[in-house]
Amino acid sequence: MTRPMSWMALLGTLMIAAAFGIAVIREPARQAESVINLNAALIAEGVDLYAQNCVACHGASGEGIAAYPPLTVAAALDTEVLYNTVERGRWNTAMAAFGVNEGGIFTGMQIESLVTLLQAQTWDTVAVRVAELGLTPPQIVVAEIPAETFALVETLPDGAILSAGLTVYAENCAACHGANGEGSTLAPPLNTDELRVRLSDADIVRTVQEGVPGTLMASWSAALEPAQQQAVVALVSGWGELNALGIRLPVIEAAPLDVSPEAIASGQKLFSLLCTQCHGVEGFGSAIAPALNNQTFLSQTPDAAIRQIIAGGVTGTNMPSWGGYLTDADIAAITAYLRSLQATAPIVAPAQP
Ligand code: HEC
Ligand code: HEC
Ligand code: HEC
Repeated sequence: MTRPMSWMALLGTLMIAAAFGIAVIREPARQAESVINLNAALIAEGVDLYAQNCVACHGASGEGIAAYPPLTVAAALDTEVLYNTVERGRWNTAMAAFGVNEGGIFTGMQIESLVTLLQAQTWDTVAVRVAELGLTPPQIVVAEIPAETFALVETLPDGAILSAGLTVYAENCAACHGANGEGSTLAPPLNTDELRVRLSDADIVRTVQEGVPGTLMASWSAALEPAQQQAVVALVSGWGELNALGIRLPVIEAAPLDVSPEAIASGQKLFSLLCTQCHGVEGFGSAIAPALNNQTFLSQTPDAAIRQIIAGGVTGTNMPSWGGYLTDADIAAITAYLRSLQATAPIVAPAQP
């Protein structure tokens, strides 16, 4: 079946034809220059479209986030295959049809721009645009652990690695597993003898590296250096030694969330840019991702845990890990926005189409 060409697509084609037409009339040097200018214009538009519609899955450098494929090798694909992929999507995958003819949002000219960008592979310009939109690399926040706690831990034979493990734990794990590894409504305890009997060191390494697919336990292999992973594994497997010494980790007082109108507004902007495509408008959920704008989720999940979930993603599901793409401040702003919904959130999100 052939579809009628949409007005915009037709216009786009005419514009390309006109641009080439003008180029042909001019002398050869001018002609080459026009083609380069047209290409540059297409790439510039492609960068904007990519930053706003593709980064969530394919990454700011086309590297692919989590299970989504990289586009750094896309230049090797046939032009028509590229065009068709963006226009029609890939059946039965998260790659949606973006063409207006297929119910999507892009005209033929816009798809042309994206294809030109993918062929040019100018990822540095994408990175700049993404940074302008406020999606820059992460900052690490260091939680304070009292010097006395470190001094006590250092008296143990493996004190050095346990101390390092404590620091990693406080920053990355305590939000869900509790300040003292006692567990929370979100995650099981890590400080029990039962866990150390049930799990070998190799099991703990695997859990930290791979996460537990489909649960809030993310894979930490990208977020933590190998030495940090080793240290936190040593801590989990050596928690009995801390218990024997009576060591209690300090309760980590997360810095209070900035819930100023500016922070909420910036969080709302990021949310509509990066999250609504899956979590729905105002976070009411969609067929592919759960509602976040509901009392059950918001009342049971502390700010620190929401931040960790956004940063770490949910391994083995469509929920990407945003830690490498958003700053801590951005993630805090999104959390502030979600928190701001709590006052009016329904107990259960209304059914979505
Ligand atoms: C919700 C996640 C998601 C978004 C958003 C997304 N894609 Fe994809 N994309 C995928 C998945 C998944 C595949 C792999 C499909 C498959 O298995 O064939 C894919 C594949 C592709 C491919 C083919 C790669 C290859 O090597 O075969 C191209 C090209 C592509 N996407 C471009 C884009 C562009 C351009 C955008 C933005 C307009 C975009 N994608 C947005 C998930 C996404
Ligand atoms: C966003 C919340 C969250 C964060 C942050 C988190 N975890 Fe988990 N973790 C979980 C959940 C949920 C489970 C249970 C998964 C399951 O159902 O099997 C889990 C399970 C585990 C287990 C297996 C426990 C058992 O009894 O089988 C280990 C070990 C573990 N996490 C270590 C860590 C370490 C180390 C960190 C920090 C680097 C960390 N977790 C950060 C949520 C989290
Ligand atoms: C490509 C689709 C997709 C995108 C984009 C996405 N998410 Fe998700 N998200 C999911 C899915 C699917 C789940 C459910 C994972 C599971 O099965 O536990 C989820 C789960 C979550 C959860 C945990 C909810 C709960 O009840 O435990 C939070 C919080 C969350 N996402 C926040 C965000 C934020 C904030 C953004 C934007 C920065 C975002 N997500 C972007 C697909 C997505």
